[in-house]
Amino acid sequence: MKTLISSDVRLLANLIQEGKVVIFPTETVYGIGASTKSELACLRVYEIKGRPKDNPLIAHFHSIESIAAVCELGEVGRALLERFSPGPLTLILPKKDKSLFPKDLDTLAVRIPKSPVVREWIELSGGPISAPSANLSGRPSLTKLSDVLRYFDRVVDGILVAEEPSFGIESTVVSLVGMHPTLLRPGSIESRELLKLLPDLRIPELTSKNENQAVPLSPGTKYKHYAPTARVILASTEEFIESFKTMFQSKSMAWIGYSLKGNEPDAFKEGFGKQSFGDDDRFCLVSSNEDYASKLYAFFESCDMSGVQSIFCEVPKPGFGEEGLRNRLEKAASA
Ligand code: TXA
Ligand code: MG
Repeated sequence: MKTLISSDVRLLANLIQEGKVVIFPTETVYGIGASTKSELACLRVYEIKGRPKDNPLIAHFHSIESIAAVCELGEVGRALLERFSPGPLTLILPKKDKSLFPKDLDTLAVRIPKSPVVREWIELSGGPISAPSANLSGRPSLTKLSDVLRYFDRVVDGILVAEEPSFGIESTVVSLVGMHPTLLRPGSIESRELLKLLPDLRIPELTSKNENQAVPLSPGTKYKHYAPTARVILASTEEFIESFKTMFQSKSMAWIGYSLKGNEPDAFKEGFGKQSFGDDDRFCLVSSNEDYASKLYAFFESCDMSGVQSIFCEVPKPGFGEEGLRNRLEKAASA
């Protein structure tokens, strides 16, 4: 199959209207989308990803009003969207329009991506567009066009070329269905921000320890996510520096964290002296939790491509950006 790779939103909106599958960048990660109005097209997304059928998709909208037209938004939902959208927040809402995919659920996950280009595309396509992250099921989400092309060129009907993801981890998911609002997946919009509008927000322990529960909070939480093939080791700063100093020569190991620079052993400087950390795909230097999140999945991907077997990840810094990043690192380390 020939894949239409283009930045022409009109051409790619036509594909969605024809019931085709299109990959697009969002501010979080790449999505693989189809019209929420076409069950057949959405089912093809599952087939391409190898995604379990009981894990529903997020519907991507271009505006708050278009969400209110098909879901029970309510005052709280509207206030949350007005505060955090367009942006990396997904809400689970009661569904008014029962014809939308998935038909057998009376709730719908909704979100408005940040990029104006993507929103224009959604509007032109007649929206909404259902999309999980664009990766094979069980693999980390993708954040680089080059990785998307490697997996999906000639597999999907179209790829929208627009600004690459910058946040790097998937959206924060909050359920407004049921007795109490509940955080289902942490992300860049942090619980302390949400609590200002949702003082009764439930924040369950969302690490893998709780994932064997009989009734998962969200269908997605019972599946493995975010983990590369390589083993991920979440290391304290001391362990991280120690492992780097003693094992940097091993081609089967890789490091991502803050403390590479300034802790290079002399032998490193001699052997790797002409290279900055960015030149070697086994070393990834980060400068903030946000920078860490934006580089994480692409680093996992490149480690797997080069046959690395263990990846040392330094713990995130306490404070802003820690919550979502720590969640993904803990999941990856426990997979
Ligand atoms: O940032 C993101 O959210 C990206 C971009 C492409 O928008 N998408 C993404 O989709 O991460 P996905 O499918 O990988 O994750 C969606 C999560 C899953 O854990 C799924 O179970 C949950 O949202 N979800 C979707 N619909 C739901 C519903 N009706 N009730 C509860 N959870 C739902
Ligand atoms: Mg996903």
